[in-house]
Amino acid sequence: MKGVILAGGLGKRLYPLTKITNKHLLPVYDKPMIFYPLQTLINAGIDDILIVTGGNHAGDFLRLLGNGKEFGLKHLNYTYQEGEGGIAEALGLTEHFSDYEKLVVVLGDNIIEGHVAEAVKDFRKQKEGAKILLKEVPDPERFGVPEIVDGKIVRIEEKPKVPKSKYAVIGIYMYDAKVFDIIRTLKPSDRGELEITDVSNAYIREGKMTYEILEGWWSDAGTFESLLRTSTLVAQGGANKRNL
Ligand code: G1P
Repeated sequence: MKGVILAGGLGKRLYPLTKITNKHLLPVYDKPMIFYPLQTLINAGIDDILIVTGGNHAGDFLRLLGNGKEFGLKHLNYTYQEGEGGIAEALGLTEHFSDYEKLVVVLGDNIIEGHVAEAVKDFRKQKEGAKILLKEVPDPERFGVPEIVDGKIVRIEEKPKVPKSKYAVIGIYMYDAKVFDIIRTLKPSDRGELEITDVSNAYIREGKMTYEILEGWWSDAGTFESLLRTSTLVAQGGANKRNL
């Protein structure tokens, strides 16, 4: 299984912090943001990793991470997303790298207290399809929100005004190789992007989506409030703990 970190975008919600750097290079307490999703993959036993970045600061990722030696890696892969086509478009750029193995995809601004090693292990055993992780949150309308009927996800709505559950779909997704055919069928959403939620909904329609509830805290860091909150959580107790 291979890992992908999506670290493109213009980070407009964090302007002017992102005027002269990429969002995923900003500090979260004592480390650049990208360190956390990288550690998340490594703690799940994944060491073949591709970073998708974009914008004007892509070279800084190479200067910061190199071949990932600090993380115990021998090699890191990089690719470049032109423009702002959305998370699913960025994922589409990883087809050549995937070699049609299963993928664990982490959004570069998603940070967790614990690990996803068990969920990844379960997905290794899953014959086909996809797996997502959910977390109960006080403000589900900010995220992708699952509608759950009889313990099964029947649909995910992206930033619904009236959420159908109290859960957010967190930015760690596991997909089989069919994901690339699905991405080719997508149409841009109202915000002009190919949405990861539409990818997951395609698996749900085929009855091939499983899910788990994440243990420990989860936070994205894409707004001023969530960036501050994430830094505080990390400062108070650390992130990416192997035993939770
Ligand atoms: C994205 C996804 C959303 C998911 C969130 C997790 O939102 O579209 O479904 O819940 O990441 O961080 P965005 O950050 O693009 O608004």
